[in-house]
Amino acid sequence: MGRHNFLSIKDFSPEEIRYFLDLAREIKSHPSAHSGALKGKTLAMIFEKPSLRTRVSFDVGIQQLGGFSLYLSPAEISLGKRESVYDVAKNLERMVQAIMIRTYAHDIVERMAEYASIPIINGLTDYSHPCQAMADYLTIQELKGNVAGLKVAYVGDGNNVCHSLMFAGAQLGAHVWAATPEGYEPKPEAVEWALQRGAKTGGTCTLTHDPAEAVSAADVVYTDVWASMGQEAEAEMRRKLFLPYQVNSDLFRKAKFDAVFMHCLPAHRGDEVTDEVIDSPNSVVYQQAENRLHAQKAILLELMQYRDVPEPVPFQEMTTSV
Ligand code: CP
Ligand code: NVA
Repeated sequence: MGRHNFLSIKDFSPEEIRYFLDLAREIKSHPSAHSGALKGKTLAMIFEKPSLRTRVSFDVGIQQLGGFSLYLSPAEISLGKRESVYDVAKNLERMVQAIMIRTYAHDIVERMAEYASIPIINGLTDYSHPCQAMADYLTIQELKGNVAGLKVAYVGDGNNVCHSLMFAGAQLGAHVWAATPEGYEPKPEAVEWALQRGAKTGGTCTLTHDPAEAVSAADVVYTDVWASMGQEAEAEMRRKLFLPYQVNSDLFRKAKFDAVFMHCLPAHRGDEVTDEVIDSPNSVVYQQAENRLHAQKAILLELMQYRDVPEPVPFQEMTTSV
């Protein structure tokens, strides 16, 4: 495929998304076949927000492919404050072979991709979480056999996870519903993109304020935290507003009898989901979390495998002055 970055599900064709999923399945089935594929290559991981799954799955994933990772914490880099995004990109491209970034504003990953000569991977922004969506649909494929035609009901905040779930669902021909309180819908341009892509793939994207309507006869019921990282100050206010959107047994019962419950995690048990649902036999949240590893190994392989580690830039005589 020869893609350089992994910034958004929207940047790919449906065939390319399916290619990543096929590669992830192959890697999951035959991990040792790829164990030396990224030998001698280093992934820098810039985290401006906390993480368990993203950090561990990228770290373990690149090691399983024969490479190394470097964890850069929020305190160390301070993108755009201690140092400009441009300078961070121009420094890191001299020393590592790819950069994964978890940050706030989405334009930071886009600017990093514009400035850096090495691949950039979006490890979550306020706008989207594409690596999560790859793991989500890998899990759905494993459990349901196929994604096209399935009803995927997202209940809660129309946030980054919701956007990527809609984008990938549209790519794969799913019927994605998002049930949110008024004022917390996914962004209009994200819905518009999903509708347009869905028109080509058979997928649809439907918004509602009624969680029962979204969950009714669904194959997948998905939720996420009501206040995302960076919105902690709103958590108390949101808790009251979002309570009717809690995925509890009464709501989950409206889905198909073999529906699966999904959550990107971390979960706030007792808020967006009850213990009864997340600990039920229908819950696949830990399989979903494990699939972050396999899905991201496919992304790392595709982006990094055939890129050589460059020779150091040789000294050049000065011929001009500024
Ligand atoms: N789902 C997810 O991205 O988890 P972390 O925030 O722990 O990385
Ligand atoms: N919407 C959540 C997802 C965490 C993986 C957040 O951004 O905090």
